Amino acid sequence: MWNASWNVNTTGTHILTSTFMPLLLKSPNPRLLFITSGTSTLAGTENMALPVNKYPPRGWPKTGFSVPAYRSSKTGMNMMMREWHRTLHEDGVKVWAVSPGFLATGLGAGKEFNAKMGAKDPADAGEFIKTVVEGGCGEGCYGWRGGAALVIV
Ligand SMILES: NC(=O)c1ccc[n+]([C@@H]2O[C@H](COP(=O)([O-])OP(=O)(O)OC[C@H]3O[C@@H](n4cnc5c(N)ncnc54)[C@H](OP(=O)(O)O)[C@@H]3O)[C@@H](O)[C@H]2O)c1
Repeated sequence: MWNASWNVNTTGTHILTSTFMPLLLKSPNPRLLFITSGTSTLAGTENMALPVNKYPPRGWPKTGFSVPAYRSSKTGMNMMMREWHRTLHEDGVKVWAVSPGFLATGLGAGKEFNAKMGAKDPADAGEFIKTVVEGGCGEGCYGWRGGAALVIV
């Protein structure tokens, strides 16, 4: 689970980005966007209103909702995004991390379960992401229902 999460979310993302870099740099207005997660911010772990931050009961083994491999891999991806920002700074590439909010997709327990837990329509997040890519987000903004974008120019 840990290696698979890092392979897809961090290493795979890095390899894909490297592979297409020659094409991206041909663009007159190059933009690079990474889809991150609100569960992956280090500061956000202090927000005890989020179910993912709740303390499990004493004892071992632990039970209950817990996604440490996913969260850690996305935190790794956030640093990778900062590294791409540094690496491409002189090339004029705009780099974003966008957290789309909680969505009813196949992620985790699945679409129906996520919707019951309050997840929203992925199409709404699509609009938010489109706005960010098209430059409607300045140097960082909060979108609908917890979605957030950090732009690093
Ligand atoms: N849903 C949320 O609440 C939420 C919140 C924050 C961030 N995100 C992020 O949004 C992104 C999209 O996730 P989602 O919510 O749409 O989840 P999803 O419904 O599970 O979709 C994940 C997609 O990734 C593809 N995929 C998985 N492993 C792959 C691999 N090894 N190689 C190529 N493709 C692979 C899947 O392809 P197949 O369909 O072919 O398996 C699927 O299309 C993810 O980066 C996720 O972390 C989601």
